Amino acid sequence: PYRDPVGTNEKMNPFAEQEAWEEHQIGKATLKFGSKDIKKQQKYDDYEFVFGDFIKAAVMDGVNVDQAELLSSVQSPAVKTTFEKIQCDRRTLPIYPYREELLRAINDHQILVIVGETGSGKTTQIPQYLHEAGYTSQGKIACTQPRRVAAMSVAARVSQEMGVKLGHEVGYSIRFEDCTSEKTILKYMTDGMLLREFLGEPDLASYSVVMVDEAHERTLSTDILFGLVKDIARFRPDLKLLISSATLDAEKFSDYFDSAPIFKIPGRRFPVEIHYTKAPEADYLDAAIVTALRIHATQPPGDGDILIFLTGQEEIETADEILKHRTRGLGTNIAELIICPIYANLPTELQSKIFEPTPQGARKVVLATNIAETSLTIDGIKYVIDPGFVKMKSYNPRTGMESLLVTPISKASANQRAGRSGRTGPGKCFRLYTAYNYYNDLDDNTVPEIQRTNLANVVLSLKSLGINDLLNFDFMDPPPSEALLKALELLYALSALNKHGELTKLGRRMAEFPLDPMLSKMIVASDKYQCSNEAISIAAMLSIGNSIFYRPKDKQVHADNARVNFHMGNVGDHIALLKVYNSWKDTNFSTQWCYENYIQVRSMKRARDIRDQLEGLLERVEIEITTNPNDLDAIKKAITSGFFPHSAKLQMNGSYRSLKHPQTVHIHPSSGLAQVLPRWVVYHELVQTTKEYMRQVTQLKPEWLVEIAPHYYHLKDVEDLASKKMPRGHCRSTKD
Ligand code: CDP
Ligand code: MG
Repeated sequence: PYRDPVGTNEKMNPFAEQEAWEEHQIGKATLKFGSKDIKKQQKYDDYEFVFGDFIKAAVMDGVNVDQAELLSSVQSPAVKTTFEKIQCDRRTLPIYPYREELLRAINDHQILVIVGETGSGKTTQIPQYLHEAGYTSQGKIACTQPRRVAAMSVAARVSQEMGVKLGHEVGYSIRFEDCTSEKTILKYMTDGMLLREFLGEPDLASYSVVMVDEAHERTLSTDILFGLVKDIARFRPDLKLLISSATLDAEKFSDYFDSAPIFKIPGRRFPVEIHYTKAPEADYLDAAIVTALRIHATQPPGDGDILIFLTGQEEIETADEILKHRTRGLGTNIAELIICPIYANLPTELQSKIFEPTPQGARKVVLATNIAETSLTIDGIKYVIDPGFVKMKSYNPRTGMESLLVTPISKASANQRAGRSGRTGPGKCFRLYTAYNYYNDLDDNTVPEIQRTNLANVVLSLKSLGINDLLNFDFMDPPPSEALLKALELLYALSALNKHGELTKLGRRMAEFPLDPMLSKMIVASDKYQCSNEAISIAAMLSIGNSIFYRPKDKQVHADNARVNFHMGNVGDHIALLKVYNSWKDTNFSTQWCYENYIQVRSMKRARDIRDQLEGLLERVEIEITTNPNDLDAIKKAITSGFFPHSAKLQMNGSYRSLKHPQTVHIHPSSGLAQVLPRWVVYHELVQTTKEYMRQVTQLKPEWLVEIAPHYYHLKDVEDLASKKMPRGHCRSTKD
């Protein structure tokens, strides 16, 4: 039996379940596969393998060799292995002819700005070139990505190219998931994770090269990283710093990094024909689907795939459903349309589907969020459909309110999107807006995130790095000063900073958690209420987002009934989440239980994983695990300790008014309290759809506000409000 020569990385598949085994003939070898990997086996039919080649190829194709057992093999000359083919592919990338020149430039300069179109090979090749040139003997190579999915999929690809197992020499690190080991020399990571590494290793001594990739995305973490890496480059002359970007505004990066030279990788771009609509589209989702189907029906099959840019998971799922429904009626004389969704929360095992080659005679339609704009390159796209919208965070520093809004994209974005169609041949881009809109309404560039987001999290990180003078931090584009002040104010309110703006002991503990400061505060405060066990479960469940319950269209009533159980007694959404977690735990983490209760088992497993990590962090900050499951008030007080700035009070008309910065808000219809309307509530977050909605809501007693945050709420405020005649909690009779 084959034994993995490099050992098993437990982290790779923590929840591997027992599967059925099947035997298969591959080339001249017979293999036993777990049922999960069975489909992948077909790929090998074209190849004949000698033993070692098979293992490499299997590893590269993502077959878990720990679970596939080689039964017998016949030595035969390899015809052509996947490995060889991949090495050929590497040499056809636009970056390849510049390999030597690039290495020379990196050798000659400490900081280099690298510009090349998406797909030219920056992310996958540069770290490998550096490794081949010996840089990894001095330390690891970090390559940051703004998105989790990109970090994971690129690491998987590079591990294939190098013929090593993901998590060994090539690994990735994203929040709550560390797929690296002692061996790791090429580390793909989200920009936020590198930021966190500064906390443990302020000079990044274990790295020889830091590549801040996708710099043009200008995420908050990337912008902060700029300041930090620029600073350490001064006292670490041995550290190489690469700033890579897909767009041509590289001068700005160069200027910021003391006129660092710019290395341009000439792109290979084919002409792209741009089409606009004659009039604005009322329903862009429908228009996108109709356009895709029209392309599919009128263009010869096999001439190219379609990429549609949508704004988020929900929209993608809707489009997926509609497309499936409509293609069912098309009949057999139309080629198969393979629908591939891709968004940040898509389960890992489904992500690789978009990279699989389209079978002959079929066409692929990729439904993607902005992630496909520059972070991921999908080969074979010929048609791009661009509705012109993106979901973007916006922040009002005056009120401290943050919301996700569907917003028109910038011209720069529109051009990047169009460019996705012209990579492998001439392409076409269908913009679902008018030429007039494009030229007159769209902004030239997207506003960097740092100027439209809540800064509490990064301010806390910077403070714990000892960077106190934030107003003079070397920002490429400084955030609005109100936003900085607001962040300081919030951290002060949470007692993470003292009145001199210095980090408190509490703040230092909070900074250990890779969570929003309000959540971290909730956890740290739970110590006082003897319920840290409950607090980390709630925090883990909240970190999953809203993908815990599911509601299949044909079983909505059942799903809703199952859900009601957890809300019994109007305990509020936080406690309901806790009940879900604990009930699952009581069944010994049963998958069956999840099915019966319309709960996504995958989300639950992720929650369990996050919870385990939070438990480890509790130990680090020396908080004991205490449990107090029946004292709901204690748990709610812990929640309030973190979220008191998010409290709201019921109004006469059934809406709510946030206490500190009065604004009208509503309980989200998905909340267990949506029909209950308690008088006082504390909420997790605001989302703006048709209205400003509070999501994840829990009832609170007003006196807690004064008890927990006397520096923030005064007795007078609460009493004044409480003494007025206000409606008691009542049932809403009509929807407003
Ligand atoms: O970073 P850049 O956009 O310049 O290119 P890249 O991400 O390094 O991609 C280079 C090539 O690798 C492209 O042709 C991609 O199709 C391929 N690739 C892949 O097959 N699978 C991935 N997960 C990532 C890249
Ligand atoms: Mg890239």
